[in-house]
Amino acid sequence: MTGAIDTSLGDNMNESILRPRRSNLAVPGSSVKMIDKARGLSVDQIFLDLEDAVAPIAKPEARKNIVAELNRGGFEDKVRTVRINDWTSPWTYIDVTEIVAGAGANLDCLMLPKVQSGAQVEALDMLLTQVEQAAGLPVGRIGIEAQIENAAGLIALDAIAKASPRVETLIFGPADFMASINMKTLAVGEQPPGYDVGDAYHHILMSILIAARANGKQAIDGPHLGIKDVDSYRKVAARSAALGFDGKWVLHPAQIEAANEIYSPRQDDFEHAENILDAYAWYTSAEGGGRGAVMLGDEMIDEASRKMALVISAKGRAAGLVRENLWRAPNA
Ligand code: GLV
Ligand code: MG
Repeated sequence: MTGAIDTSLGDNMNESILRPRRSNLAVPGSSVKMIDKARGLSVDQIFLDLEDAVAPIAKPEARKNIVAELNRGGFEDKVRTVRINDWTSPWTYIDVTEIVAGAGANLDCLMLPKVQSGAQVEALDMLLTQVEQAAGLPVGRIGIEAQIENAAGLIALDAIAKASPRVETLIFGPADFMASINMKTLAVGEQPPGYDVGDAYHHILMSILIAARANGKQAIDGPHLGIKDVDSYRKVAARSAALGFDGKWVLHPAQIEAANEIYSPRQDDFEHAENILDAYAWYTSAEGGGRGAVMLGDEMIDEASRKMALVISAKGRAAGLVRENLWRAPNA
């Protein structure tokens, strides 16, 4: 054992990537009952919705509910996000001013749906800054989560990710996305009928993931509307988790356990990753011979192995995994 693991994350990864977001619970801002129930659920993030889960006539009351419930507290163990309406709607300004002025101290992020350009993120950043200043809040603490829900958003991914240091996540919005590109399906989650080669969403998911990683952001998979079919949820979640996504939306308590499990590393992978970090640190030290590529059991490890292990170690630690066995240096 070589002591503390070097957890510096290197290339383009920062601390916000460690904030767990395995399960992201959508809760309509119009339902105080559902908001209250969310307090007791073991999700990493909740987002209180002002957009598509709330009818236009119910939005004014939903804003008031959200302010009151955020201020009432009880969500401090979760990332607290509010999804506002997009810039093509008449409501973005009023959403931001009312929610941030009313409950900014009890809010971690705003989620901006249907983002189409970096300029839309910059506009939200500027508005947020003004409202934070006017409300006497620290400037820049509230993050932005950007939903990618149409072809324009996909093309502008890199600009969206770079538009503001407030951006924490890029989120796939499959329902709006499929509608916007005229995909012929009504099922959100599974493959479109007639598509029998590979995964129809692979390009979109991979593009979001690459833009997120190139800019040190998290990549989040969106909803699965068949809320009773947890097996199907698991299958779809496992695909984006395998690519490297950090989490997925949950719409129903039955999906929560699946998300928390699927987006956490398995215990044995976590132990293995931490062993790689310890072994590599020791072998590359003067004491361990200053070597760059070494054998760990039957496996050759090098600097690239260290980077892969750091990702699994960081995700495991963020998910609360605890190591059971320590690696020991030869003759230690
Ligand atoms: C989520 O907002 C979606 O459109 O899938
Ligand atoms: Mg949507």
